[in-house]
Amino acid sequence: MQSKGVMRLAAKRVLITGAASGIGLACARVMAEHGAHVLGCDIDDAALSVVAGEAGMAASMRLDVAEEPDWAAGAAWARREFGGLDAIIHSAGIGVGGDLTTLSLESWRRQQAVNLDGSFLAVKHMLPLLREGGGGSITLIASVTGLRGSAVFAPYAASKAGVVALMRSAARASAAAGDGVRVNAIAPGVIATPIFGRMEGVNAAATDPVATAARLVPLGRAGQPEDIAHAAAYLASDEASYVTGIVLPVDGGLLMS
Ligand SMILES: NC(=O)c1ccc[n+]([C@@H]2O[C@H](COP(=O)([O-])OP(=O)(O)OC[C@H]3O[C@@H](n4cnc5c(N)ncnc54)[C@H](O)[C@@H]3O)[C@@H](O)[C@H]2O)c1
Repeated sequence: MQSKGVMRLAAKRVLITGAASGIGLACARVMAEHGAHVLGCDIDDAALSVVAGEAGMAASMRLDVAEEPDWAAGAAWARREFGGLDAIIHSAGIGVGGDLTTLSLESWRRQQAVNLDGSFLAVKHMLPLLREGGGGSITLIASVTGLRGSAVFAPYAASKAGVVALMRSAARASAAAGDGVRVNAIAPGVIATPIFGRMEGVNAAATDPVATAARLVPLGRAGQPEDIAHAAAYLASDEASYVTGIVLPVDGGLLMS
């Protein structure tokens, strides 16, 4: 249970993508501790089913964020099982790198399909659900690379820059519509999660978060998934009711370096 006794998300219904691992899993755990009813989604339903109970998820389902029918099914599921949603944390993502002069178009497109198309589909299918309930919060997990660029992870950085522009556009549209929906992004820096072992198209040196952080991050160490989860819990909470359209870096100072 939440140790400090502050239930920031009491009874809020929160859908989290990428909930089987890393940042999404930490978000599920921390937000459940804050009193949220967490609906966990991931393409890896086997891994999700192993962690769902222990992380305090109220329910879980397989959802490939790049597939529109999966989002339609997810929205129908949330409506049927929970009567709607109050917040979305969209954390599912993959990391594709490589030299821009040799990178295949197929790799580029796979990267954009999961990270950028997935974020678009999240907004497209979840915003109506939040509006039905009179408002809510969408938090997209972007990346510091989307703000700084990356020599090693260009496809990934481009996808995350797109996520930031999508977020700002959705935030502006919701504010203009007066629909009560806030839309924000978190830009993690170097966070120690399994994603480093899953990176495509990069050499081994780029897949070690500890060495990468020691080299690049002013605080000199990698962050933990919980560092992102606490920021996500804040943005989804009513304490952030005047916060929309921001990119919140949680990066040990990486952006200023
Ligand atoms: N770890 C970092 O240093 C870091 C830094 C910046 C941004 N991020 C972003 O944070 C988010 C979470 O990354 P993480 O570090 O927790 O990685 P992770 O690999 O631990 O978790 C990602 C999860 O997303 C799921 N996933 C992948 N493709 C999917 C799809 N098509 N549909 C549904 N689920 C899918 C995976 O199965 C996995 O459970 C990603 O968007 C990532 O780009 C991570």
